Amino acid sequence: MFALSIPAHEARLVDRERHSPRGSVIGVRQAGEADLAGIAAVALACGQPPTDSGADPAYARHLLAHGTLMAAVDRERHVVGFGATRRVGSASALTDLFVLPDRQGGGIGGAILRCLWDADAETRITFSSQDPRALPLYVRFGLRPRWPLLYLRGSAASLEADGLHVRRVAAGDAAAVERDLTGIDRGADYAYWLRSDPARALVVHDHDDRPVAAGAATAAGLAHLVCPSAALATDALVAALLALGEEPQTLWVPGPHPALPLLLRNQFVIEDYDIHMSSDDAFAGVTSVYSPALA
Ligand SMILES: CC(C)(COP(=O)(O)OP(=O)(O)OC[C@H]1O[C@@H](n2cnc3c(N)ncnc32)[C@H](O)[C@@H]1OP(=O)(O)O)[C@@H](O)C(=O)NCCC(=O)NCCS
Repeated sequence: MFALSIPAHEARLVDRERHSPRGSVIGVRQAGEADLAGIAAVALACGQPPTDSGADPAYARHLLAHGTLMAAVDRERHVVGFGATRRVGSASALTDLFVLPDRQGGGIGGAILRCLWDADAETRITFSSQDPRALPLYVRFGLRPRWPLLYLRGSAASLEADGLHVRRVAAGDAAAVERDLTGIDRGADYAYWLRSDPARALVVHDHDDRPVAAGAATAAGLAHLVCPSAALATDALVAALLALGEEPQTLWVPGPHPALPLLLRNQFVIEDYDIHMSSDDAFAGVTSVYSPALA
């Protein structure tokens, strides 16, 4: 059997020979700066956008710094797949799993996942694509499909405010409000989302000026808005969209989110969807807006 000569401290070799379409052996190892070009090539070959995906070095470096990024390499050390996890509170969130199109279905995705999710005890979450191989693979790792995460696009122009008000704040202040609301520190993710436009961090306040939601918008849209209150979730989301302006926005909304009927009545359209999967059905609240990768 062929084995890659990667030192044990930086490599975790996985024998997937029986499942590999070409009978080759791949190695899965912790990715480093030298892998970023190969990771970008895999992401682009899988149709990923140039920003906020493995095709974007800033995104990959965010995962290197704050998560676990693994690369699967062939015997010539070419990157043939990659995957990453990021801790969100007590959960391990799978942010990415991509394999070169001509190597898909050969066991490489499973091999990467075994390196990322080798402990059984943790809560696991992800937003699965509709690729027919993705969902079954995650089920094998203990996750179950919960609800669709809808990619919505539309304009806030015809939405009406209900008195909740929005303050633009620094990224660290939005992260601090979210930590108060949920107990989860997303400070590094806020810094990532707001790296190009720091003015798009926001906090929504109720009529008594208490913060009820915190979030961040990127060039792609409203990437994240956490609002633990079901009673306030619709108004908080409308207030956030109005604060961002009337240009069409993209946002990623759980199918059971209370605001969905209102958004669809106001000409928002569903452009795509992922499937939220988790090992613990209590984990991800349906009153928030999630980035499909970083949650
Ligand atoms: C999704 C992806 C990462 C999986 O990696 P992969 O190397 O192709 O997957 P694997 O071969 O390790 O595993 C796929 C599993 O799905 C199973 N499977 C495939 N089609 C299936 C179907 N229609 N029903 C049930 N199971 C199916 C396979 O049998 C295999 O399981 P097995 O190893 O027990 O036989 C890869 O296909 C990919 O990059 N797809 C495009 C990008 C994408 O959508 N990524 C997911 C982001 S969430």
